[in-house]
Amino acid sequence: MTLRLDQLLARNLGLSRRQVSAWLAGGRVKDRSGAALEDGGTTGVHEVKVDGRPLVLREAFHLMLNKPVGHVTALRDALHPVAAELVVSAPLAAFLRPVGRLDMDTSGLLLWTTDGDVVHALTHPRRTVPRTYEAALARPFARPPEVLRLADGHEPTIASLAEIPGAEAHPALARPVDAQVFARIVLVSGAYHEVRRIFAALGSHVLALCRTTHGPYALPADLAAGDWREIAPP
Ligand code: URA
Repeated sequence: MTLRLDQLLARNLGLSRRQVSAWLAGGRVKDRSGAALEDGGTTGVHEVKVDGRPLVLREAFHLMLNKPVGHVTALRDALHPVAAELVVSAPLAAFLRPVGRLDMDTSGLLLWTTDGDVVHALTHPRRTVPRTYEAALARPFARPPEVLRLADGHEPTIASLAEIPGAEAHPALARPVDAQVFARIVLVSGAYHEVRRIFAALGSHVLALCRTTHGPYALPADLAAGDWREIAPP
């Protein structure tokens, strides 16, 4: 994707094409050497000064968010805080979309991108992208049968499932006082409430849930709840 200068300015500054034309004609946009950029059709310029302030013009942006419990994976919601509020400070925020979703009660790794191809590459069932979840459980769970069929007929693809010591669990996982067991599960399928439903089918109950990896991305231990960090596209 190679965007024209006027398109880049519109996307990065949230301006209309008419406003961009006026800013260019008024000499408000300059290149790094200080020369005014007046031709909106210019391509290949990504570092500019706008009213004297340096600005990197992004064609796309990708980030990882440590979603806290209590935020819904949505751009807007009448009742609950939305995860989109947590990424408004990112470049191209108006164009960012979540890569899949986490339940309101799930914390951890939620990827965002402006690129629909990245969403597709990381979420399409045929891509079988692994996601890791860690769970605090109310009681031990049974070993899954060869084929686990949930109540709606969905058969999750479990790449691995193991109990872990609580001390090994990711800092982004809540530790409810009544948690008896901790577990790590890697899935290459994605379905509504999948992890919660899997543990229920195995005789346990999820008290807290956190996603720690999605494809090639892992949630850093030092990324605080509610914070985001830029990532390179996959
Ligand atoms: N499985 C769940 O049950 N919840 C999530 O948020 C993600 C996977």
